[in-house]
Amino acid sequence: MSPMIEVEALEKRFGATRALRGVDLVGEEARVLALLGPNGAGKTTLVRILTTLLRPDAGRARVAGHDVVADAAALRSAIGLAGQYAAVDELLTGRENLELVGLWYHLPRAVYRRRAQELLERFSLAETGDRLVRGYSGGMRRRLDVAASLVAQPEVLFLDEPTTGLDPRTRNDLWAFIEELVAAGTTVLLTTQYMEEAERLAHRIVVMNAGTVAASGTVEELKEQVGGAVLSARVRDRSDLGRAAALMAEIGGGAVHTDADQQQVDLPTKGGTPVLIAAGRRFEEAGIGLDDLGIRRPSLDDVFLHLTGERVAPASPEVA
Ligand SMILES: Nc1ncnc2c1ncn2[C@@H]1O[C@H](COP(=O)(O)OP(=O)(O)OP(=O)(O)O)[C@@H](O)[C@H]1O
Ligand SMILES: [Mg+2]
Repeated sequence: MSPMIEVEALEKRFGATRALRGVDLVGEEARVLALLGPNGAGKTTLVRILTTLLRPDAGRARVAGHDVVADAAALRSAIGLAGQYAAVDELLTGRENLELVGLWYHLPRAVYRRRAQELLERFSLAETGDRLVRGYSGGMRRRLDVAASLVAQPEVLFLDEPTTGLDPRTRNDLWAFIEELVAAGTTVLLTTQYMEEAERLAHRIVVMNAGTVAASGTVEELKEQVGGAVLSARVRDRSDLGRAAALMAEIGGGAVHTDADQQQVDLPTKGGTPVLIAAGRRFEEAGIGLDDLGIRRPSLDDVFLHLTGERVAPASPEVA
């Protein structure tokens, strides 16, 4: 495997905001690298630098062997990008949008027409392909935008929050499609706020927070960092949250985390069933009613919490 994406000590400022403060990462060929992080972490800024839409202030980055500054034109011909905000032309039809990309890349007309038709079918846009994009729904635009990034069959594909706003079925279709592309040799860098998406697709995950890499590795490697398991209790009555957290702290083992919205208290633990049983008894003695008590393997969400002290927003993609 050779690296298709190489980033070294990359920095970018916007006025007083340090959007990237020394980012290093590597993306291997025919693999999915996921950038996971909350709002403002710097994901889009990194994608924009890697796709030559922004120039870095310091550091180096190469994609498919091309430097983002010195070889920008060659780099652009090797990549596809579906940005965070759909960049399709409202006044053209879906099909015209796709064919236009073929023109930009100087593909032969017969080739881009065939590609456009295939992609419209693939992204369930065959029936609406000849209507103006102005009348498309958000999800249709999103799909068209991803389709447009694929017209030129890029070596490296950048997808900035590709499934935000997609309904669950369409999201699953897109995941399956990304897996096929990667099996056929495409390298993918995608950004996401969804653990579920990173777990499903990514060979490697880079957790970003406030312009830096908080951690990176495979899903399993990241979970190891949290270690063991998580003892998790959901209280029936919100007013018991504080007492539940104190009780968990007495059990000990790690830092207690309280999630007020979920009415849940979590504790990293190395113990198994005996800890669970002991905890159950203590909650009962304290008269704290629970809706749920269990031990679970750490999720990526726990990893993120452990690394950054905050949860990544929604637990699973929201339907817009
Ligand atoms: N063009 C810009 N001008 C000024 N500040 C910017 C600009 N682009 C990004 N920023 C700032 O840089 C930081 C990183 O933003 P970025 O868009 O890269 O985050 P992100 O991880 O993509 O977040 P999100 O999940 O919300 O898309 C933020 O503080 C943002 O406000
Ligand atoms: Mg972004």
